[in-house]
Amino acid sequence: MQIITDPSELQNCCLTWRMQGLKTALVPTMGYFHAGHESLMACARSAADKVILTLFVNPTQFGPNEDLAAYPRDHERDIAIAKAQGVDVLFLPEAGSMYAPDHATWVEVPELAQGLCGLSRPTHFRGVCTVVMKLFMLTLPSLAVFGQKDWQQVAIIKRMVRDLNVPVQILPSPIVREHDGLALSSRNVYLTESERAQAPAIQSSLRLAKKLVSEGTMEISVLAEAIRAHWAANLPDGEEDYLSFVHPDTLAPLSRIDGPALCAVAVRLGKARLLDNILLTEGTA
Ligand code: PAJ
Repeated sequence: MQIITDPSELQNCCLTWRMQGLKTALVPTMGYFHAGHESLMACARSAADKVILTLFVNPTQFGPNEDLAAYPRDHERDIAIAKAQGVDVLFLPEAGSMYAPDHATWVEVPELAQGLCGLSRPTHFRGVCTVVMKLFMLTLPSLAVFGQKDWQQVAIIKRMVRDLNVPVQILPSPIVREHDGLALSSRNVYLTESERAQAPAIQSSLRLAKKLVSEGTMEISVLAEAIRAHWAANLPDGEEDYLSFVHPDTLAPLSRIDGPALCAVAVRLGKARLLDNILLTEGTA
């Protein structure tokens, strides 16, 4: 595995592969790998000739009071995992090499970015879209793999790619979970023992909602009430950031379950903000 730190060296390497007609897969990450990241690497490995993994804690997607400085980092361990997953190139840019001091160009999909995580993180997806577009331009991949844990992120990137005719196929990859159902996240390390014990209630509440839908409950207020009651009983230290029922592709809020429906939640638990989601009915993202 080659480790590249210089953006133009990465671009030259990927351009050469592209000109050789090789199929390349990009896996963008911020590091501190867990089995969720590994599943994306494995998906990329099975779908392409060359796998490009990027590890960059992107400052523009963090708000002023968020955890940019504290974001967990362990490059040595991450490098070993990437090697074991058969990654061809690991891009590990030095801080400062990704954005010029007078960087002035932004990519935004405001319509899809204002709800859900956008409510408490108003500039987050502008930072995500901009860095993902920069990574696409640096690596010119045939396809790029993103995890469905961040459903809104996948929906926004799909829209950006469609709207701007970006020639990259977006491959969504399923959520990888702990044995008790908690979605894996680099930020789970922020949880105390008692918070960690409560955290699986996030997924069990979503499964409960799905069960209610399968039994015929289509009223969103009833589903929301059931989820909140489950949290009150099993997640006493959790604080709701959002609980939303949306169309899986457009992320438009639903007034009733009568077609494709996604339930997406974010819960603050101690220092962590935990995301999860479930398709209540069929959907595409
Ligand atoms: P990061 O949080 O490091 O996540 C990198 C990728 O791993 C994302 O596509 C995310 O959805 C996926 N992922 C995280 N946890 C997962 C899980 N439990 N199961 C499956 N996939 C999981 O998302 C980002 O970084 C950044 O916003 C990035 C796209 C790299 C732009 O900076």
